[in-house]
Amino acid sequence: MAEAVILELDNVATGYLDEPVVRDFSLTIPQGSITTLIGANGAGKSTLLRAIYGLNRHFGGTIRFDSEEIQDLKPDQRLARGIGFVPQGRCNFPLMSVGENLELGTYILDRAEADSAVERMLDLFPMLRERWSILAGNLSGGEQQILEMAMVLEAEPQLLLLDEPSLGLSPGNLRQVFETVSEINGRGVTVMVVEQNVHGALQISDTAVVMELGRKFVEGPAAEIREDPRIRQAYLGG
Ligand SMILES: Nc1ncnc2c1ncn2[C@@H]1O[C@H](COP(=O)(O)OP(=O)(O)OP(=O)(O)O)[C@@H](O)[C@H]1O
Ligand SMILES: [Mg+2]
Repeated sequence: MAEAVILELDNVATGYLDEPVVRDFSLTIPQGSITTLIGANGAGKSTLLRAIYGLNRHFGGTIRFDSEEIQDLKPDQRLARGIGFVPQGRCNFPLMSVGENLELGTYILDRAEADSAVERMLDLFPMLRERWSILAGNLSGGEQQILEMAMVLEAEPQLLLLDEPSLGLSPGNLRQVFETVSEINGRGVTVMVVEQNVHGALQISDTAVVMELGRKFVEGPAAEIREDPRIRQAYLGG
C-alpha cells in the first residue's frame, strides 16, 4: 500500500511583493515523516514554510493538505485544519509566565478543550510543569523552544512546521530540542523543519530537501543527502 500523503505542493510560487521569492516548488510529504529543509541564508526556506501556513502572497500553484486545497485559506483556518507553525526566532511572550503562555496557545480552543490541552502539554513536557510560574524569558533557549512547540501542539496539529528550532542554542539545548522533535514525531505528528544545523537535522529526518535561490535543488532520503558530495561540500563542512 502506498504511504498516505499529508501535504502536497504542486508548482507553488509564493513571496511578498511584486514577484515570487520561491517558485516552481513541488513536494510531497508522507504522513508521519520528518522532512528537513536545508539551504543558504535567503534561499527561501522560511518563505516556503510561511506559505504552507498562509502568511505570504500566493502567486500560483496548489497546496493540498489532507487531500484538500488550502492555498486560499487564512492561517487560523489552516491551524484549525491541523497545520501548526512555530516561526523563526523567539516567539513566546517573555514577560508572561510559562503557564500564561500555555494558556495563550489554546486561543482557538473552547474552555474545556483548553484545560485538557494545557494538561496534555504538562504531561508531555514535565519541565513546563516545574517551570509553570517562571517568566518565559527566564527559561533557557532550549526550554523556550520547547514551550513554543507546546503552545502550537495544544491545537493538536497533524503537521508541525518548525523554522530553525535550534537557532542560537548551546549544544546541550540543541540535543534536547532535536530529541523533542523526534518524540513529537513518534506520537504521530508529521514534521517539516528548517535547519542550519544540518548534521543534527539529517540524523532525525527521513527526507531532506535542499533549496537554492528559491527553488528546489535536491531532494532525497536523509541518509543519501548526507553522502551527496555537493551537500557535504556546501552544508556539512566538506
Ligand atoms: N517580509 C518580507 N518582505 C519582502 N521580502 C522578504 C520578506 N521576508 C523575506 N524576504 C526575502 O525573501 C528571500 C528569502 O528569504 P527567506 O527568509 O525565506 O530565506 P531563508 O532561507 O529562510 O533564510 P535564513 O536562513 O536567513 O532564515 C530573501 O531574498 C528575503 O530578502
Ligand atoms: Mg529563514
